[in-house]
Amino acid sequence: MQFDPVKILITGADGQSGFAIARTAEQDSFFEVIPLNRKQLDVTQAEKVVAVLDRYLPDYVINCAGFNFADRAEREPHKAMLLNAEAPRIIAAACGDLSIPIVHLSSDYVFDGHYASGYTELDETQPLGVYGHSKLQGELNVQQYMPRHIIVRSSWLFSDRGNNFMLRTLNEARENNLMYGVDDRRGCPTSAFDLARVVLAIIKQLSCGAEAWGTYHYCGAEVTTRYGFCEAVVAAARQFEDLKVDQIKPIASKDLMTEAERPSTSVLKCHKILNIFGIRQRPWRSELQRLVRDHYGQVHY
Ligand SMILES: NC(=O)c1ccc[n+]([C@@H]2O[C@H](COP(=O)([O-])OP(=O)(O)OC[C@H]3O[C@@H](n4cnc5c(N)ncnc54)[C@H](OP(=O)(O)O)[C@@H]3O)[C@@H](O)[C@H]2O)c1
Repeated sequence: MQFDPVKILITGADGQSGFAIARTAEQDSFFEVIPLNRKQLDVTQAEKVVAVLDRYLPDYVINCAGFNFADRAEREPHKAMLLNAEAPRIIAAACGDLSIPIVHLSSDYVFDGHYASGYTELDETQPLGVYGHSKLQGELNVQQYMPRHIIVRSSWLFSDRGNNFMLRTLNEARENNLMYGVDDRRGCPTSAFDLARVVLAIIKQLSCGAEAWGTYHYCGAEVTTRYGFCEAVVAAARQFEDLKVDQIKPIASKDLMTEAERPSTSVLKCHKILNIFGIRQRPWRSELQRLVRDHYGQVHY
């Protein structure tokens, strides 16, 4: 049976999640993909957003553009608010006018991290810093301007491109004998490609008539610390490269001078996405192995 592919327009398509969603969707004939990077669509410019949506008339918009630097956000709050709060308002308003549902990515930083057991979608938001405030305001704007929205909060994204903990750890492990990993912050790493699978699975169900708009949590399975994740990255990379690092030491976050306060527990509970969409968490460790292997397939040391 012939069917028209579902047209998805992706903003911020050169970022790690935008790229992963575009690449995954392009391999699936269910989708027609319009990936737009910052040069092709600056999401802070309202007229351009309206003109582009009007031109392509996608079935869904997936907003992957963002300002994802918690420390820089403390110094550049206007930039963080513009990209993480105002741009989602602009996109959601344009989507609302054209009746195009929006999928928007958000973050564990909307919580203060004081619940050791982790957070459900019903728990109270209480951001600690500018980045978290900007992400929360972005969520509220999406909710207000386009009722047919899906907000997916995720945490500790990693992939084989962009600025992320996996690649930063690999670079550090090549250059230093001794590395430190924070061991009093708990969270769940999430592969950008795993998140892509989740976003696309949700859109497939919505396209088949599921009316399940709202906010969902998704992160990789298994709680760890930055220290634990760092050890796992180094162990995976050692299969391919003789790294310089010979010791990784745990360190308390208070001893690591960062400008932004970070949630001590970033664990997102993912029961709702399982109950509504049947989406199960995948272990981040297997995705880490695959991405590290792909990384060494691309570059030669
Ligand atoms: N990274 C994480 O650990 C994490 C965790 C939880 C949730 N999230 C959420 O997931 C989403 C995507 O994160 P990510 O890690 O994929 O981010 P990313 O790799 O930093 O990608 C963000 C993209 O947005 C683009 N962008 C910046 N300004 C723009 C503008 N004015 N117009 C259009 N595009 C613009 C950037 O382009 P340039 O590079 O050209 O500036 C970049 O390609 C964000 O909403 C973030 O809050 C991330």
